[in-house]
Amino acid sequence: KAERIKLSQKDEGLIGKRVKVFGRIHRIRVQKAATFLEIKDGYGKLQCILPAGDLTRNHDALLFAQETALAVYGLLKRVPEGAEAPDGRELHVDYFEVVGGAPSDLEAFSNKVSKDQDPWEASMLDNRHLVLRGDNASAVMKLREAIELAFVDSYREMEFTKVSPPAMVQTQVEGGSTLFGFPYYGEEAYLTQSSQLYLETVIQSLGNVYCIEKSFRAEKSLTRRHLSEYTHVEAEMDFIEFDDLLEHIEELICRVVDKVLANPTSAAYLKLLNPGFQKPSRPFMRMRYADAIDWLNAQEEPILNEEGKPHVFGDDIAEAAERKMTDIINRPIFLTHFPVEIKAFYMQKDPKDLRVTESVDVLMPGVGEIVGGSMRMFDYEELIEAYKKNDIGHEPYYWYTEQRKYGTSPHGGYGLGLERFIAWIANQHTVRTCSLYPRFMGRAKP
Ligand code: 4AD
Ligand code: MG
Repeated sequence: KAERIKLSQKDEGLIGKRVKVFGRIHRIRVQKAATFLEIKDGYGKLQCILPAGDLTRNHDALLFAQETALAVYGLLKRVPEGAEAPDGRELHVDYFEVVGGAPSDLEAFSNKVSKDQDPWEASMLDNRHLVLRGDNASAVMKLREAIELAFVDSYREMEFTKVSPPAMVQTQVEGGSTLFGFPYYGEEAYLTQSSQLYLETVIQSLGNVYCIEKSFRAEKSLTRRHLSEYTHVEAEMDFIEFDDLLEHIEELICRVVDKVLANPTSAAYLKLLNPGFQKPSRPFMRMRYADAIDWLNAQEEPILNEEGKPHVFGDDIAEAAERKMTDIINRPIFLTHFPVEIKAFYMQKDPKDLRVTESVDVLMPGVGEIVGGSMRMFDYEELIEAYKKNDIGHEPYYWYTEQRKYGTSPHGGYGLGLERFIAWIANQHTVRTCSLYPRFMGRAKP
């Protein structure tokens, strides 16, 4: 007689009972008197003790290779004083069955996979399905789920309605150069770069809205923070001013962090991945783009632009410069008021300085930009002008433009890259380890 349990069941009442657990071998330690197996079942870990003797006599080491799937039976006990084991308990195994064997060549991928392992290495990427068996990779995925739910909970608390815009579209949002096109019943269509335009068309009926959907970008370079397919947390707010937008983004990020820390399970995963994590202090630093340009040039060793020259107003602050900046300042930054020329067509101009937009990037230490947002151009004629200036044929956008005809309003929103948020909070070197099966230039498998 044995009660089947999952390793998330931690009630004291189980101590002293005979239980059955399905799991896989995570670690093996063979001693004279006993074999110690640490097994995992996706919910937790359990130390299993198999006394030397009848139980193990006829089994060679291969039987106990890492990742072997087992059913183990035995008495669950508290570990003796001074000994350590997951949840302070151990299973004194009296019987086991091998459910699925495993060859003994997996070690390179699972337990040993750590933050230090090179995620660019082709074999690591080809074997992502095995890498995911490791402690770190699975912790990132568990944490990722907690973060996603924390976003959902936060939005619910703030009265945002969740919607699900289409992934197959016929308009661009963030420039034609990163569009993935495909044939669509004899027409051309694209994988969406952002759901923003669709969100903008439903605030009128639903109020503030958000979505957590995939976005796709044909990024033609390999960097630590670019994926071809990523999870995009986007929201749109009606009847707001630029400052409201900034305040909301700060509140959202802090709420999500608080929720992750308040939940003991997600807090433990976060601690494992990023023991030094400190919740950011409020208010976040606010810096205008023009001041950032001055700041870059004013460093003892000036931070140069992509051509190796000092930055001038109008330059993109490229990834390398941005990273240096966030590393030096070492706290979240709202970088605001980017020049019109380097930003998307839909961004509202700052009424006090028409050279710049009411736009914001949120920069985080270690990652750089994790959020991009802005107020939206809400005047019909101005938007038509903006299409022209950006060489965008406005016909396919009629449904977007018409929002400005039927009760237009000052509104704004943002998009947050979930993998970048995770890279920040979990101290990951690249967004690749924050995605289940990352896609980027040259890789669409496994
Ligand atoms: O700054 P982006 O391009 O802004 C937009 O797409 C807006 N339309 C969003 C909106 O206002 N609703 O992208 C927003 C965020 C970036 O800050 C970054 O975190 C993430 O999306 N992102 C990527 N993440 C991973 N790989 C990529 N290739 C990404 N491109 C953008
Ligand atoms: Mg951006």
